[in-house]
Amino acid sequence: MSTDIAHEEHHHGPPKGIGRWLFSTNHKDIGTMYLVFALTMLFVGGASAMYIRAELFMPGVQFMEPDFYNNMVTNHALIMVFAVVMPAAAGLANWMIPMMIGAPDMALPRLNNLSFWLLPAAAVMLILSTVVPFLPGGGSAINTGWTLYPPLSIQTGMAMDFAIFTVHILGVSSILASINIVVTILNMRAPGMTLFKMPMFCWAWLFTGLLLIIIAPVLAGGVTMLLFDRHFGTSFFDAAGGGDPVLFQHLFWFFGHPEVYVLLLPSIGVLAMIIPTFARKPLFGYNSLVGGMAILFTLGLVAWAHHQYTVGMAAGPTTWFMIITILISIPVGLMLLNFMMTMWRGAMTFETPMLFAVAIVLMFSFAGVTGIMLAVVPADLEYHDSMFVVAHFHYALIPGALMGLLAAAFYWLPKWTGNMYDERLGKIFFWWNVISFNITFFPQHFYGLAGMPRRIVDYNPAFADLNMISSLGAFAYGLSHLLFLYIVIKTVRGGVKAGNKPWEGAQIGTPGLEWDLSSPPPFHSFTTPPVVK
Ligand code: CA
Ligand code: CU
Repeated sequence: MSTDIAHEEHHHGPPKGIGRWLFSTNHKDIGTMYLVFALTMLFVGGASAMYIRAELFMPGVQFMEPDFYNNMVTNHALIMVFAVVMPAAAGLANWMIPMMIGAPDMALPRLNNLSFWLLPAAAVMLILSTVVPFLPGGGSAINTGWTLYPPLSIQTGMAMDFAIFTVHILGVSSILASINIVVTILNMRAPGMTLFKMPMFCWAWLFTGLLLIIIAPVLAGGVTMLLFDRHFGTSFFDAAGGGDPVLFQHLFWFFGHPEVYVLLLPSIGVLAMIIPTFARKPLFGYNSLVGGMAILFTLGLVAWAHHQYTVGMAAGPTTWFMIITILISIPVGLMLLNFMMTMWRGAMTFETPMLFAVAIVLMFSFAGVTGIMLAVVPADLEYHDSMFVVAHFHYALIPGALMGLLAAAFYWLPKWTGNMYDERLGKIFFWWNVISFNITFFPQHFYGLAGMPRRIVDYNPAFADLNMISSLGAFAYGLSHLLFLYIVIKTVRGGVKAGNKPWEGAQIGTPGLEWDLSSPPPFHSFTTPPVVK
């Protein structure tokens, strides 16, 4: 008998040593690696933001060459989008989706390993691109911003080739991970788990995965054409050779606009899990939320050129893109209404995940309002390339993506580790994080509207006071994440046992199977898939 148990332990327990991680095909271990990678890169991308805000602390150029400043702007964006938010969301998908749908693992476990391990390679390439300009003959940095617009991106130095290769590797990683997630959701559900019984997080990731499969190849194609223009004598984007620089903008934003939903949707899925739990009511309007995401998915694919009103498109397409963009506020408004109706007359409590959820709904709504301002063509012609745009999309993406992921960490850490996080520290983190975020970005609306351009190292002294406030807020905001790191480490190392249902009433409106598993769950989710009653 005892030898049988020992044999079982040997067969089902986690493998030992570095091989456990390098060769892992286990969805929880790969999920953990994604999350650790994202958290590490949050501090790298955050450091570049701190550089930016240090330089903008006062007018005049104090710390850096303009070229390096633009490099920091570019790195900050590329890292936050591709190395923080997307990997963190993929980490949540890996950890939760198999447990939520009653699957033993992801559908394609070896592909899963490859999708993850491509990421550190891409990160190394991106860091090299920052080093290259400092080498003799290294040329200029990637100073284009994350949009990599030609002709500037054709004129820049060797660093751009590293950036292009980075984007290629990231694209391969995203496409493979998305295929895996979509296949898992479509093929691996336990008997009885129909699509419309899935926890909303799975729906959010189904749309996210499909979007990425459509858009990532277009970006890859665009940067490949850029590479050909740089090295192989083509002129796709060079007017002198019969090409069209605006073509690149269309390719980039056909990717770039839906990419915003790739960043937002997983966090919307997280909110749809957290809010019913802490309102102790089923999610209001499950079907309408799925429908809202489907409409968002569809409209999002045909709205891209609102990023380029200023390039001189004809009136017809310009009007189309304006109308579609404004229409997008309808499904987004519906989602927010779903969340508010879920809270309405609920028996709400405000643990850290719920505090974040409420704050996200408020701040994301505000980003929606400034988004409408930017969607309107004559207004956008004034706001374009100003700090107002920077303020707008940070209100969309920090609450809408990053804070949603932080909320998810608080929500699921007890399930992952078996330990409760320190609620007092969690609440301190919430207030510190949200208040300093607003101090950073709220003033940017005003100096943006007053005419301060984005992506420029220096500015008119008239904007000095508000910029100083922004920078002070940014330093506090950046520091707050050290407290998050501390809370996570403390929770992993121990704490009050969470129990198998860490949040009482958590099953209300969330028919997922994850709450039927112990905290922490066994190394393999299920020996035999359970049946949904
Ligand atoms: Ca300065
Ligand atoms: Cu857009």
